[in-house]
Formats: sequence, structure tokens, C-alpha cells
Amino acid sequence: MEVLRVEELTVRRGKRKVLDGVTFSLRVGEKFIIAGDNGAGKTTLIETVMGFIPAEGGRIYLKGREVRNEEDFYALRTTVGYVFQNPDDQLFSLTVEEELAFAPLNLKLSREEVERRIDRALKAFSIEHLREKTIHSLSGGEKRIVSIACVLTMEPEALILDEPTTGLDRKRFKRLVEFLKETDKSVIVVTHDVELIKSLGWKVYRLENGKLFLLP
Ligand SMILES: Nc1ncnc2c1ncn2[C@@H]1O[C@H](COP(=O)(O)OP(=O)(O)OP(=O)(O)O)[C@@H](O)[C@H]1O
Ligand SMILES: [Mg+2]
Repeated sequence: MEVLRVEELTVRRGKRKVLDGVTFSLRVGEKFIIAGDNGAGKTTLIETVMGFIPAEGGRIYLKGREVRNEEDFYALRTTVGYVFQNPDDQLFSLTVEEELAFAPLNLKLSREEVERRIDRALKAFSIEHLREKTIHSLSGGEKRIVSIACVLTMEPEALILDEPTTGLDRKRFKRLVEFLKETDKSVIVVTHDVELIKSLGWKVYRLENGKLFLLP
């Protein structure tokens, strides 16, 4: 069973063809890495899959069903949690608590369930002390961790994280690696952090010249 399938995705940004026929699939429980140089198109690939950038050609499937319109992309975004490369593009609430509550409230869950999910997400990364803080007052690394915790409150089946270790200290880096290895969700990590790639030990795809290759 596949959570996601991408076929022959082609995306142009300006004059440049950034993605030139990218194909991959993410099976239930599968975990892999997408690596590639700065500007290779990793973020473009993910943002196209999430429906933020229009594709010139190709197809995206969620659990075997083609994703065609905004409604389909909405379903995709509740099934696949996406952690942005830049937390400032993701976080928009005044406080950490409000930010964490946003997705579950949007899912029309009960107040108790929302509370339960906020507690669990804070606990997962030991950031209970950040709950009442304003987003604005957080450090770079704190914003990163909060942006990951936020995606968890949606309880998505799959996760896509774009450069999730940027700005993290040793302790948080280790905790994140542990979390990614332990979770039974399907996971795609986009990164060129060699230490992260080594620590995870997952299969690695490389994006180069608009194409995705599986590294041996
Ligand atoms: N908003 C934009 N408009 C036009 N071109 C863009 C835009 N954002 C990115 N690009 C171009 O698309 C190409 C791919 O960028 P992208 O951000 O996808 O690369 P990346 O692999 O994620 O790089 P990094 O490792 O630095 O995060 C680059 O050539 C970049 O200049
Ligand atoms: Mg990027």
C-alpha cells in the first residue's frame, strides 16, 4: 500500500526546469531521505507534492487516488504532515499554544482531544516550558522544534520534513533522530546534513539535474 506516489513530475521555476520527470513512491511505514545540492529543487519537489507550487506535468497519487484539485490537496495535507524548511514560513500564531491548537481545532476535534494532542506534542520533544511563549520570542532552534511539534498535533500518517536539523543543538538533534527512527509513520526527510543521513541509516535518493536517483 502506498501513501504517496509521484509520477513524471515536471516543474519550471522562471525559465529553469527545476524538476524534469521525477518519480517516487512512499509506502506505508517506509522511510527515506532526499539529498541534493543547494538549489537542486528539493524544496520545490516537496512543495509541489503538497500543492503549493503548480506542476507543469506529471501526476500525484494519495493512497492510489490521483490528486487533482484543491479538495484533494486538502486531504493530502491532512494525511501527510509537512515541516517547512523555514519555520517562519510555517508558524503564524501569536503563541506556541495557539499554534499547536490550530490544526486539531481545524479538524473539529473536541477541546479535550486538542488538549491531549498539545500535551503529547510538547512532551515528545520536552518543550513543555515553551507552551505560553510567543512565537516571536523563540530562538531559531526552538522555532524548529515547535514547527515539528505542530505537525504532530494533526496526527498525520506520514511526515515530510525539509532540513529538520537546522539550528538544533546536540540534545535536540539526538531526540529528533530517535523520534524519526521510532515512529511508525511513513517519513521523508529532505536534507544534506551528512550526520543526519548517517544517523538515520535510511535509503537515500539524490536529486540532481531535475532527476531523482537512488544512491547505492
Ligand atoms: N520563489 C521562487 N521563484 C523562482 N525560482 C525559485 C523560487 N524559489 C526557488 N527557486 C529556484 O528553484 C531552484 C530550486 O530551489 P529549491 O529551493 O527547490 O532548492 P533546494 O534543493 O531546496 O535548495 P536548498 O538545499 O538550498 O534548500 C533554485 O534554482 C531556485 O533559485
Ligand atoms: Mg530547500
